[in-house]
Amino acid sequence: MTLIVKQGQEKASEAFIRMLPKAELHLHLEGSLEPELMFRLAERNGIQLPYGSVDEVRKAYDFTNLQSFLDIYYQCADVLRTEQDFYDLTWAYLEHCQQDGVVHIEPFFDPQTHTDRGIDIGTVVSGITRALRDGNEQLDISSGLILCFLRHLSEDDAFATLDLAQPYLQHFVGVGLDSSEVGNPPEKFARVFSRCKELGLKRVAHAGEEGPVAYIEGALDILDVQRIDHGVRCTDSEAMMARLAHENIPLTVCPLSNTRLKVYQHMSEHPILTLLERGLCVTVNADDPAFFGGYLLTNYMALVDSLDMSREQAARLAANSLTASFASEEQKALWLEQLQQVCA
Ligand code: ADE
Ligand code: ZN
Repeated sequence: MTLIVKQGQEKASEAFIRMLPKAELHLHLEGSLEPELMFRLAERNGIQLPYGSVDEVRKAYDFTNLQSFLDIYYQCADVLRTEQDFYDLTWAYLEHCQQDGVVHIEPFFDPQTHTDRGIDIGTVVSGITRALRDGNEQLDISSGLILCFLRHLSEDDAFATLDLAQPYLQHFVGVGLDSSEVGNPPEKFARVFSRCKELGLKRVAHAGEEGPVAYIEGALDILDVQRIDHGVRCTDSEAMMARLAHENIPLTVCPLSNTRLKVYQHMSEHPILTLLERGLCVTVNADDPAFFGGYLLTNYMALVDSLDMSREQAARLAANSLTASFASEEQKALWLEQLQQVCA
């Protein structure tokens, strides 16, 4: 669709971006655990944290790469124990979505992070889905939950997780693949993704965050994914950029994550707007906002501040997030009409 955007070349303002209907398609619920909530849950569950204060926690969030983040991220998730903990985590994220003008979310959760600690998958799914239901009813934010397999674990472990998840399949729109990318290529999960496809689940995978273009290719050709999470390393290959544009495969890009994990040293180096102008269906997302310094609107504003993102570009990114979602075509058309009204 062609968007008509009044004063399209002007730099986008925060108020304008907030008003645009937006979807968030790359958000790890465990990554939205703010230090304040972490302390509250630790106290509620009688857990001793290795940190003395919220400030001390934030100081520890000084990452050098993906693995240095994941080590702390999995440790923090240990405070999540009860159904109410998962509800509170998810509800806090939904409140941020409302503040940022997000109308639809497709969040990730990592069951293995919890089942490996003896937490029942039913406890996890029940707390998350109860909050998502309340979010739909009370905040008018629709959602589709995505179960992610941890790629540093084996494919057999992923199959065991799929077995555990079987009674809850109706709660998931799809499956994803996350955690340590380099050394854990998509083909390691070929059989389990094929089984998920047979079960009627959509598929997404992290690829080309730190890993090479070959992982993006593997995610597309072997895992048969509908979207690539991150995918920014497609810039290493003219052929891959052309393919992603031609096949209209969405990339769920996470600007603040990429700078905090040193994929780029500074936001001014980020290629998202270059990819947008090349015709790729790129979208903006927060990844792990409690660890990387901000939710969806803050990620959009980082692009305004460092890349002079225009109103027209912001509107196109928001439109991409809606069209790239797994919502119905009827729903997408309604949102896009609303978005056009905001722009004009
Ligand atoms: N899990 C949470 N955030 C992640 C990221 N950015 N990459 C891979 N796995 C993750
Ligand atoms: Zn991610």
